Amino acid sequence: MGKDVIVACDFPSKEATLEFLDRFTGRKPFVKIGMELFYAEGPQIVKDIKARGHRIFLDLKLHDIPNTVKSAMKVLSGLDVDICNVHAAGTTAMMQAAIEGLTRPDGTRPLLIAVTQLTSTDQEAMERDLLIHEPMEEVVMHYAVTAKNAGLDGVVCSPLEAAAVHEACGAQFLTVTPGIRFSDSAAGDQKRIMTPARAREIGSDYIVVGRPITRSEDPVSAYMRCVEEFIG
Ligand code: C5P
Repeated sequence: MGKDVIVACDFPSKEATLEFLDRFTGRKPFVKIGMELFYAEGPQIVKDIKARGHRIFLDLKLHDIPNTVKSAMKVLSGLDVDICNVHAAGTTAMMQAAIEGLTRPDGTRPLLIAVTQLTSTDQEAMERDLLIHEPMEEVVMHYAVTAKNAGLDGVVCSPLEAAAVHEACGAQFLTVTPGIRFSDSAAGDQKRIMTPARAREIGSDYIVVGRPITRSEDPVSAYMRCVEEFIG
């Protein structure tokens, strides 16, 4: 899969999501489905959006014992999603079990990426609550390398970390980067942000864009602006 813009469909219901996607009559966006929509609507929402011709990143961030993650991934693999994810903090054994669960009898499987440290976790919280005392950048890079060694395809990371992740894990290791804003739009609660054009320059493979598109008065134009800036 080449570079693409993934639209974070952070809507509370199927109705709101499909109404939003109905606007896209030309290029069909790669769609990210998160916990809110998946838990509200169940697996059928994935099938419905897939049936409309969209590729899907199912962002459920699994983190449990290896056997449970393996069984859950088997279910997600059957939904025919394109990308799904786990927490790297689940350890190598859990990530390897996730790959086993995802792999279909014919050897194919969705891409699997890891969450390193959530961007909502800062150095202070990591030290206080997780007893991890290394600098955040070192922790993120360690998790990325661990994910790579476990056989995963990439990580979710800040666009500011994408170049370093590629350096440590290779150009083929995917960097999927949220925290994207246009130069002239509000940052909202995202702190470390970057424009689609800059994300392209520093080598992100996929950008994840939510509110700059979903809350825009003209979502299709905002999406096409992302595509033009990021893919060209
Ligand atoms: O609206 P916005 O563009 O900030 O949406 C970004 C999307 O990426 C949201 O769905 C958010 O949950 C997700 N995300 C993030 N930062 C991470 C991981 C996921 O913003 N570290």
